[in-house]
Amino acid sequence: MLSFPDGFLWGAATAAHQIEGNNVNSDWWVKEHTPGTTIVEPSGDAADSYHRYREDMKLLADAGLNTYRFSIEWSRIEPERDFVSRAAIDHYRRMVEAAHEFGLNPVVTLMHFTVPRWMHEAGFWRNPEAPELFARYTELALPVVSEGVDYVCTINEPNIAAMLAGGEDASNLVSYGLPNPDLQVADALLESHHRSQEVLSSVSGLKTGWTVATQAFHSTGEPGIDGGPSADEKLREYGYPRDDWYLEQAAGDDFIGVQAYTRTFIGPQGPLPVSAEAETTLTGWEFYPPALELGVRSAWELSGGVPVMVTENGIATADDNRRIAYTEGALQGLHSAIADGVEVLGYLHWSALDNYEWASGYRPTFGLIAFDHETFERQPKPSLGWLGSVAQRNALG
Ligand code: NOJ
Repeated sequence: MLSFPDGFLWGAATAAHQIEGNNVNSDWWVKEHTPGTTIVEPSGDAADSYHRYREDMKLLADAGLNTYRFSIEWSRIEPERDFVSRAAIDHYRRMVEAAHEFGLNPVVTLMHFTVPRWMHEAGFWRNPEAPELFARYTELALPVVSEGVDYVCTINEPNIAAMLAGGEDASNLVSYGLPNPDLQVADALLESHHRSQEVLSSVSGLKTGWTVATQAFHSTGEPGIDGGPSADEKLREYGYPRDDWYLEQAAGDDFIGVQAYTRTFIGPQGPLPVSAEAETTLTGWEFYPPALELGVRSAWELSGGVPVMVTENGIATADDNRRIAYTEGALQGLHSAIADGVEVLGYLHWSALDNYEWASGYRPTFGLIAFDHETFERQPKPSLGWLGSVAQRNALG
C-alpha cells in the first residue's frame, strides 16, 4: 500500500469557460463565433455549471474527495472595462461557501486562459497596462478569496498562454509545442502574476502560485546515448517554449501548480508525431502516466524546493478503465517522488466533468463525471468512485 502524506489534498479541477456555459463577454466566446477558425464548435451552454455548481461539488464530495479547484471568470466580474458586476462576485463567493458546506477545500484560479473581450481588443497581454489591469481585477476578486480559501492560482499555464499569443491560433491549444512563445507576453504574465500576488498578500494565510504545463519533452538523441543534443538544447535551438523558465520563476512562491499529461519527442526538425505503436487518447496524445512524476520532480528542482500541488492530470478517453489505469500509474510515480523527499500538497484530477476542450470542442472527454448535453443530468463514472476511495484511504493499493 502506498500512503500519501497527512492532510493531502485529493480533488478534481475545472475552469469556468469550459463548464459554466454562456460566457458571452469572454474573448473565447468571440473567437468561437468568428468564422474561419479551427475551433470545431462553440461552447454554448457547456455543462451549465454556472447554475449547477452545487450538484457538481456534491458529487465530488460524496465520492470522498476533499478539494475542488475551479476558476473565476474575469469577463463576468468585469464585463466592460471599469464596470463591475457585484452579482458575479457574489456568485463566486457563494461557490466558496458551497465548497465548505460540502466539505471541499476550494482552490481558486483567477485566470484560466480567458480574458474579457475588452481586454483582448485593448491588446491583450501586449497592452503595457496588462499587469495593472490584472492587479485591479485581483482586487475585485478579493471578496471571493478573502475567507475560507487557502490556495489561489493566479494564472493558469502561462507557458501555454504565451505560446498562444505567439501563434494567435486557437488550434495551438490542442497541440502543445507548435508556435514560438511570445516573450513579451511571457514577461507580462510574470509581472501580472507578481502584481496579483502583491494584492493577495493582504489576505493573511493565503498561499499563492501559478500553474505550469510541464510537457515532458524527450529528445530522440540524448547526450551519452548517441552524442546528440539534449531535448532542452534542442528546444532552445528551435525557440520552443521552455517549461523550465516558468518553473524557475516560481522560486519564492508559496506553491507551484504542476499540470502534466503526456510527453513529446523532439527530433532534428522539432516535435515529432506520436509513434504509431503508442496508445493514444482522444486528444491524440500518448498515454504516458510517468509524465506526472517527471513534471513534479522538475518543478521541485527548478523552483528550488517550492511545495508542489498537482493542479491537473488526466486523460481524454471514452474508456473509463483506461482513465483509472492512467491515474493509478500517475499516482504511483507521484508517490515515488514524495518518497524521495519532494513536498507535494495534493493531487487534483483534470477534470471533474467532461467539458469544453477549447478548439477541440466537446469530443475529448476528460471528466470523472459525464453529463447529458440536453438535460445537463450528471452521470458519475466509475473513475470518480475509484479516486474517491483512494482519497478516503489516503493511499493507493
Ligand atoms: C490544460 C488546461 O489548463 C485545461 O484547460 C485543458 O482542458 C487541459 N489541460 C487538457 O488539455
